[in-house]
Amino acid sequence: MQSNLQCKSTTSPLHVGIIMDGNGRWGERRGLTRTEGHRAGVDAVGRVMTAAPGLNIDTLTMFAFSSDNWKRPRPEVDGMMHLIEHYMTMQAQPFADAGIRLTVIGRRDRLPDATVAAIEKIESVTATGTTLNARLAIDFSGRHALLEAAARAFWSGPFTADTLSAALATGSGYRDIDLLIRTSGEQRLSDFLLWESAYAELWFTQTLWPDFTGENLQQAVDAFRNRNRRFGGLPEAAAAVSSQPAHALP
Ligand code: IPE
Ligand code: IPE
Ligand code: MG
Repeated sequence: MQSNLQCKSTTSPLHVGIIMDGNGRWGERRGLTRTEGHRAGVDAVGRVMTAAPGLNIDTLTMFAFSSDNWKRPRPEVDGMMHLIEHYMTMQAQPFADAGIRLTVIGRRDRLPDATVAAIEKIESVTATGTTLNARLAIDFSGRHALLEAAARAFWSGPFTADTLSAALATGSGYRDIDLLIRTSGEQRLSDFLLWESAYAELWFTQTLWPDFTGENLQQAVDAFRNRNRRFGGLPEAAAAVSSQPAHALP
């Protein structure tokens, strides 16, 4: 028998987070540049966005550039910014036609002007999409987002988990992550959505991000559906036993 909590996780539309890792290694293993790996990674983003609605995923938050990625060599960072700008510019109309709403979370004050302009354009062109809420995290730091939200919530008071959560709600489709995927064999959060991942189911794969397909996404969702999410409670059967008076227990 399935618990209510299990039922909830199997039927509600999912918020899936993806830490898209392994682009650089993908390039290096082919004798290409790391930037070529990032370019190949862009194709995987398209595959996943196409597959998501059919897997009952209504919100997809993908980590594209962390605030710590500024530490990388200038040519790699410039290449990634250029790719992001190019991708946003090229995909604005196709996404709008496909009903994909794309928003970007993270800081904008350190991005090149052209990248910010491309982000603003795609956000406005795709604003009415309802097929998929796609969110790209760019210059994103979970800790920084929490600090900023805490300051906003504190000054507007009362300061509670709900008001902090509301203050964190940037971009469309904000809510807790159900399933968090990380590619390339690494098993860490790397300062992604820390608050929103509190009860996320974690799924790791050795596959490097540029090789990730819609089938891989399906595998992750299948694994998720076999998980028993308890949120600190008990599965239904165990809860029924546990709530019986002690004298009724065998
Ligand atoms: C993920 O690939 C993309 C970003 C972090 C921006 P990496 O560039 O981290 O690739 P690896 O982990 O070095 O292979
Ligand atoms: C995390 O990957 C950030 C993104 C996928 C955008 P990194 O490759 O930067 O993370 P670490 O350095 O291995 O933790
Ligand atoms: Mg990496």
